[in-house]
Amino acid sequence: MVLLVTGDEPIRELFTRAGCPVCHTIPGIGGADGRVGPTLVMGTTGLKRLADPLYRGRAKTVKEYLIESILEPGAYVAPGYPDRTMPHWYGQKLSAGALEKIAVYLEQITEENPSSQ
Ligand code: HEC
Repeated sequence: MVLLVTGDEPIRELFTRAGCPVCHTIPGIGGADGRVGPTLVMGTTGLKRLADPLYRGRAKTVKEYLIESILEPGAYVAPGYPDRTMPHWYGQKLSAGALEKIAVYLEQITEENPSSQ
């Protein structure tokens, strides 16, 4: 198994190597202006997803929702966006450390405070 990232990379390089910016706009990450998936302001949208009566996943916190979205994109498909588009293999390609770093970074970004860190 070849990992895309180890988790030791600086956060921007981590996102770039994992390919997330191709499809997502990520505040604070230069060049991450993809439009295929939602803008990742998960401090705001994560709470909305968890509150959606249609949400059937297992996450109880925004961080858990984020990790679930990356490992099991089909658990909940963000309204207005296509299913089966986000890769389903990130669980095999990201180290646990990389996943943790991604989740910690993304959970603190809100619509009101998009300029993280
Ligand atoms: C090929 C395009 C593509 C790539 C690459 C991709 N995603 Fe996604 N992602 C999507 C789409 C489309 C959705 C919305 C549909 C869904 O929920 O599955 C999504 C949904 C998400 C969500 C849920 C967003 C919300 O508002 O509920 C998160 C979190 C997420 N992606 C994180 C990531 C991360 C982190 C990476 C890189 C490790 C990544 N994605 C790579 C296309 C992509």
